[in-house]
Amino acid sequence: MFEPELLAAIRDRFHFADECPYEGPRAFFENAGGSLTLKSVVARSTELLAVPDNQGRANRASQALGELIEQGRGDMRLFFGARAGVVMVGETGTELLGRLIRSAVLATTGDVVGSSLEHPATFSACRRWADVAGRSYHQVPFDTDTSLVGVDSYDEAITTDTSVATIIHASPVTGMHVDVAAIARRIREVAPDCFIIVDGIQHAAHGRIEVDSYDIDGYVVSGYKMFSRHNYGIAWISDRLAAVPHDQLDGTPPEAWEQGTRDASAYATFSEVVRYLEWLGAEANPELAGGSRDRIEAAADAIRGHEHGLVDALLRGTGGLPGLAKLDPVSVVGPVTSEHRAGMVSFEIAGIAAADVVEELRRDGVRTHVRRRDHYSAGILVPLGIDACVRASICHYNSRDEVERMLGSVNRMIAERL
Ligand SMILES: Cc1ncc(COP(=O)(O)O)c(C=O)c1O
Repeated sequence: MFEPELLAAIRDRFHFADECPYEGPRAFFENAGGSLTLKSVVARSTELLAVPDNQGRANRASQALGELIEQGRGDMRLFFGARAGVVMVGETGTELLGRLIRSAVLATTGDVVGSSLEHPATFSACRRWADVAGRSYHQVPFDTDTSLVGVDSYDEAITTDTSVATIIHASPVTGMHVDVAAIARRIREVAPDCFIIVDGIQHAAHGRIEVDSYDIDGYVVSGYKMFSRHNYGIAWISDRLAAVPHDQLDGTPPEAWEQGTRDASAYATFSEVVRYLEWLGAEANPELAGGSRDRIEAAADAIRGHEHGLVDALLRGTGGLPGLAKLDPVSVVGPVTSEHRAGMVSFEIAGIAAADVVEELRRDGVRTHVRRRDHYSAGILVPLGIDACVRASICHYNSRDEVERMLGSVNRMIAERL
């Protein structure tokens, strides 16, 4: 885990690490709902949103905005670990997944396959566009024991006739991440030309993204889930998928996917995220030689290590307090010990409604969220036989003290109410 000085320096780079601007001091375990925002992101947005100029004009301001956009695109490639392909900024992760899936389905003639682990951003688009195109859509079930999809989960549905397949890199309900490269490889053994589109929105803040090694065609992340802000998502698109017919202005190059005037601040804030990761990678590994991508990978590995320590403390206990996995009335969603768990513990307390647990934690200065059988989470909770659960979603700027605060609250609740 991070040394205290480094953790303090990390927290100092974010707004509202210690307190909510509305409710005062709190530990923030609602990172799957949206991460804390880097101070550098807010400063860059503020600065650039005031600039009135448009792109492509013969003046210095316009030129500067163009340069920031190009820099942003370069940083996005670096972040994705993608040498080829196209990167684009869209409205949200949901919108980008929808656009990629629509284009892939309409450009091909075969079936569409996804999994029940996915977020509705993916399966709603698959269902709709398969329907519009008169194709079949099949959702393979996730494994309720592991709460993820494995390498062979797609076997029952992938045929030589599958032309679009979707994978979720990590679930925002269980926190489990899957082996994208292995699943993609298995899909391609049967359907080598299938377009494979990955939802990386939950995974992005918690570990490496190595698009070049996945053999996929699309990967989507959201700005607000990884230390930037709302109002934009980013997609990487393979050259092969980028070349299919898609919505674009007549006369623009075939690989143009972005539509309309660009918000330079979205690109520039993503560059700030990448600068932050470079800084963190270097801080966490002072011996590290190498370039920007090496530092980004080092940051991802350090993030993973720190979060692993926090999840472990939450499950097994810290500061003399028993952890969630040691408390009788608590059931943890998914296996307690799993190499796939990253930055999240969802749980129920028998005898206390999940919404009440979230409310009591809130009163104790701990922000979590309830996941129930609504259109976001029913697909996961119903097969698991869970009505509602509490989601504690962790990020690398969280501390062991915050975990202790949460465990203190849960232990008190159980002692007082059960
Ligand atoms: C895994 C996953 N996919 C998609 C989305 C939707 O992302 P956005 O809010 O950027 O549309 C979310 C948001 O929670 C998510 O966690």
